[in-house]
Amino acid sequence: MSLVTAALRVLAENPDIQAKLRQDRSLIPNFLEEMLRTEGTVKALFRLTKRPVRIGDIDVRPGTHIMLIPAAANRDPKRFDQPHEFIFDRKNARENVSFGRGIHACTGSPLARAEAKAALERLFKRIGEFRIDEAFHGPADARRYDFVPSFMFRVRTALHLEFDPR
Ligand code: HEM
Repeated sequence: MSLVTAALRVLAENPDIQAKLRQDRSLIPNFLEEMLRTEGTVKALFRLTKRPVRIGDIDVRPGTHIMLIPAAANRDPKRFDQPHEFIFDRKNARENVSFGRGIHACTGSPLARAEAKAALERLFKRIGEFRIDEAFHGPADARRYDFVPSFMFRVRTALHLEFDPR
């Protein structure tokens, strides 16, 4: 839900990207990877160290609680050029870590990706061009969005759109 909502906001704000994806649906999966990179739902993950470990140049003792922030890793300039730019056809967008990495990586990621792709494809078929409803979210230079109050999850409480009939 939050991935689709985030994707709809970007598409509503960027009619050029919306038109490209409508024209060529094969662009949707990479667009969604860039969505996950820039607006992954899970902002923070936690681990407990079982043995001494070195992370970067920091020695961590066993029994330490670690807060991992995929949202920051996804904007690492060593990994992603122009990390704060949304580039829907970014070549390495899929290197994002929004589903975690390793043995506990998200079991539901194939389903989440398939659902989001199906949602966009279905919406493109059912409705014409859509845009942000300014009555709810304000003008282009001063948008307002509400989020669920959480330091772990990035979830919008609502997204209001206007659309042309098909
Ligand atoms: C966009 C949607 C989703 C995002 C961003 C997401 C993200 C994540 C993240 C970051 C983790 C933790 C990985 C870690 O600890 O290293 C996780 C774990 C998990 N997710 Fe998701 N998830 C999504 C959708 C789903 C769906 C649809 C399902 C199930 C149908 C699911 C099932 C799980 C399960 C079972 C785990 C625990 C895996 C484990 O600890 O071994 N997730 N997810």
